[in-house]
Amino acid sequence: TESDIFYRPTIHFTPTIGFMNDPNGLVFDGTNFHLYYQYDPFAPYAGHVHWGHATSNDLLHWQDQPIAIPETKDGEAFTGCAVIDRTNASGLFENAQGGMAALYTRASSHRQAQYLAISHDNGQTFTEHAHNPVLDIGSNSFRDPQVIFHEPTKQWVMVVAKSRLHQIAFYASIDLAHWVHLSDFGPSGLFGVDYECPNLIEVPLEGGGRRWVLFVSVNPGGPTGGSITQYFVGEFDGTRFIPDDTVIGLTDFAKDAYAMQVYSNMPQDEAVSIAWLGNWQYCQELPTQSWRGAMTLPRTMTLKRDFAGWIRLAQTPRHIETLRGTAIPFATRRIAAGSSAQVALPPGTAIELAMSVTVDERPHDLPLGDKGRTGRFIIVFGNEQGETLTIGFDAFSGQLWLDRNDLKGFAQPFFTGQFSTVLNPDDRHFDIRVILDASTLEIFANGGLSVGTALIFPAGPLDFLRLEASGAAATVESLSLYPLKKTMP
Ligand code: FRU
Repeated sequence: TESDIFYRPTIHFTPTIGFMNDPNGLVFDGTNFHLYYQYDPFAPYAGHVHWGHATSNDLLHWQDQPIAIPETKDGEAFTGCAVIDRTNASGLFENAQGGMAALYTRASSHRQAQYLAISHDNGQTFTEHAHNPVLDIGSNSFRDPQVIFHEPTKQWVMVVAKSRLHQIAFYASIDLAHWVHLSDFGPSGLFGVDYECPNLIEVPLEGGGRRWVLFVSVNPGGPTGGSITQYFVGEFDGTRFIPDDTVIGLTDFAKDAYAMQVYSNMPQDEAVSIAWLGNWQYCQELPTQSWRGAMTLPRTMTLKRDFAGWIRLAQTPRHIETLRGTAIPFATRRIAAGSSAQVALPPGTAIELAMSVTVDERPHDLPLGDKGRTGRFIIVFGNEQGETLTIGFDAFSGQLWLDRNDLKGFAQPFFTGQFSTVLNPDDRHFDIRVILDASTLEIFANGGLSVGTALIFPAGPLDFLRLEASGAAATVESLSLYPLKKTMP
C-alpha cells in the first residue's frame, strides 16, 4: 500500500516483508558486519520467529540474506548472539581458524532453553550442535543469551535473563557447549514484568580507561510506557557484576529503542550498538501492511561524565557523515524573541539537522507574563496540513522535550506523544543532532548523553523546518542541515 512505501525509512534497516523485532547476533567477521534479527517472514505480526539476516561492510548499507536460523519442532528461534571462535576453542570447527557460532533461545510454550549452532559458511547458515539444548534449567522464562570472551579468565561468559525473576544469570564455558553457573544479578533497577536481552560490554570512558556496562531490557514497565532498556555501570570480575552505585540509567528518554544489542569482535573493541526501533505496546498495529519493524542507526557508545560528575552512557550515530548530500542552505545566526526562521525540506529523503544554540537571558525589564521566566527554543518539522513534530528546549530548566502528538497518521492508546529529558540544569546552551527518516526520528543531544528515539507517523510529508524563539532571543552558534543518501534498496 501507499503507507508501506511512505513510512519506509531510507537509511534505517527494515524487512522487505514480514515482522521484525530485536537485533540478534551482531558480529563483525573481519570483513562484514552481520545483523540477524527476530523475524516472522509470513505475517506483519510477531510469531513463528526465525533469525532473519542482513550483511553490510559499513553498518549503513545492508544486503538482505536468506533466513539463517529457522523455527524448528523444538521451538521458535528467539534472541541470541553470535561470536567468532578465533582459535577453535570450542573444537567444533574443522580447523584451527575456528569460525562463527550462534547462541540463542529456543522457545516453546513450556520451555525456554539455550541452543548452540555453528556456521560453516561465514554466517549464512547454521548447523545445530548435536547436544542441544546446551543450557536448560527447566524454565519457561529463561532467554536471550549474549556471550563475550573474557580475556582475564580466558573463558566465554554468558549473560542470560531469568525473565520473570528479574535476574540476569552469568555462566562460564571454555567450549561454548558446557556452561557453569557463576552468579545472578538483580532484581535491580526497574521492576517491570520481564527482564530481557542482557548485554555486557566494556565501554571506553572519555578521558581514559574503560568500564563495564550491563544493559537489561525491561518489558513492559518502562517509565515512558512499555519497553525500555536500562543500564548499570560497574565492574565485572569474571564471576559477578558489581554496579558502582544504586542508580540506573536509561538508554532513551522516549520509548522506541528496545532490546539494544552490542557488536561482538569489533576492531579496537569499539562499542557499537543497534536497538529495535519499536515498542511492544503498539508494534503489531503500526500503520503499515506488508512490513513492520525498523532498527536504529548503529551507534557508537562511550561513557562520559555528566554535569555532576557521574558516569553516563553517551550514544552517537556512527559514520552517518558519509551519507551527507549537498548541504541545505539555512543561514540563521540570531532569532529574536517571538520570531522564527523557516526553510523548505527536500521530499522523500532522510534529513540530518545538527545545531548548537544559546538562549539569551530573559530581559529583566520584560513583564513575566504567562511565559514565566522561561526562554524557549523550538525546532518544528511540519507541513501545510497543520502537522507538527516538535523538539523544544526550555532554557530556564535546561530540559528538552519531544512532541509527536500533532502527527495524524497513527493513533492507539499506548502511542503516547510527549517525552522530556534534562540536559544540563542551569545551562542556557544546548547541542543537538536530529535524524528524521520517514517514520523514524532519532535525537542525540548534549553530546549524546540524552538520546530520544521515536516512531513518527505523519499523514503527509513533513516539508519544512522552522526554528522559533519564544520568551527570549537565541543565538544559533552552528547549524548544518543535510539530506542523507539512501542506503536501503
Ligand atoms: C524482546 C523479546 C525477547 C525474545 C524475543 C522474541 O523483545 O521478547 O525476550 O527473545 O523478543 O521475539
